[in-house]
Amino acid sequence: MISDNIVIIAKKEIYAVKDINELNILKVKYLGKKGYITKQFLLIKTLKKEEKINKSIILNKQKKKIIKIIKKRQKEIEIEKNKKKLLNQKIDISLPGKYIKIGSEHPIKSTINKIEKFFMKVGFKIVIGQEIEDVYHNFDALNIPKYHPIRTEQDTFWLDKNTLLRTQTSNIQIRIMKKEKPPIRILTSGKVYRNDYDRNHTPMFHQIEGLFIDKKVTFTDLKSILVLFLNFFFGKKCKIRFRPSYFPFTEPSLEVDILNQKKQWIEVLGAGMVHPNVLKNVKINSSKYYGYAFGMGVERLAMLQYNIDDIRLFYENDIRFLKQFKFNNFI
Ligand code: DAH
Repeated sequence: MISDNIVIIAKKEIYAVKDINELNILKVKYLGKKGYITKQFLLIKTLKKEEKINKSIILNKQKKKIIKIIKKRQKEIEIEKNKKKLLNQKIDISLPGKYIKIGSEHPIKSTINKIEKFFMKVGFKIVIGQEIEDVYHNFDALNIPKYHPIRTEQDTFWLDKNTLLRTQTSNIQIRIMKKEKPPIRILTSGKVYRNDYDRNHTPMFHQIEGLFIDKKVTFTDLKSILVLFLNFFFGKKCKIRFRPSYFPFTEPSLEVDILNQKKQWIEVLGAGMVHPNVLKNVKINSSKYYGYAFGMGVERLAMLQYNIDDIRLFYENDIRFLKQFKFNNFI
């Protein structure tokens, strides 16, 4: 009635299962209320006392063995499950990485950085200023006459009667000279705005402005710093031409041209000795102090350096254009 083989059969079956659900089914099959072992216990009830004892000893042993085998298998299944889980989470460090495109510094920004680097080395302090400006700081204090055409709506973006988007970084000269006492040696860079749009002009562009005020500042100092700067900027001895010019805030004034690859003279900056009227406006004694100032267009310099013939390319955000400047960081 009681098969001695039962433990062996159960063991085979138990080891054939692959997961806990299947194992539970076997658990019920052998040990459950209607399971094999329970049924055997019910059957031996009808046997004689001695036989009953013997058989129940055997049955109990079988029951214990089956329980032990189930527990062992259960542990194994759990271990296998964990192993699989870990394998799934495994990271293959030998896989090649994904290429992530990184941006690069905008050519205008790197041009500004390069210019600032030079002037910082020769003792200029970098300052920043405001883009929304009033008539006084943008025009009046710079000795720009009331009738000057730059003041009209064709050229200037007016916000109201007295407020505008600065047309030049020269406004910073006034703001600094009002605040600080000579000697003053500053350089500023930033956006300026003019109502213009073609291949050489955008309504917003960048300028660099330098100012040096002290007791013995001469026109020669101005010329020599500009030559040193342009040679540094273009990385070679440039062909430079100084031309007499006119700016209301400097006297005498000059413009600087350099010879480009096509042998054309290209204007790169304006400069001059600070006009006594400007010094007077900021309450600096013009018989004691002298100064020079200069201003240059950043886009113009960048176009010359990189051989770009349309200023609008800088602001169209065309990735094919911008990508070319990846390795041109100067910092
Ligand atoms: N502000 C001038 C412009 O926008 C440039 C300039 C010329 C600045 C002469 C100066 C200067 O400081 O001295 O065209």
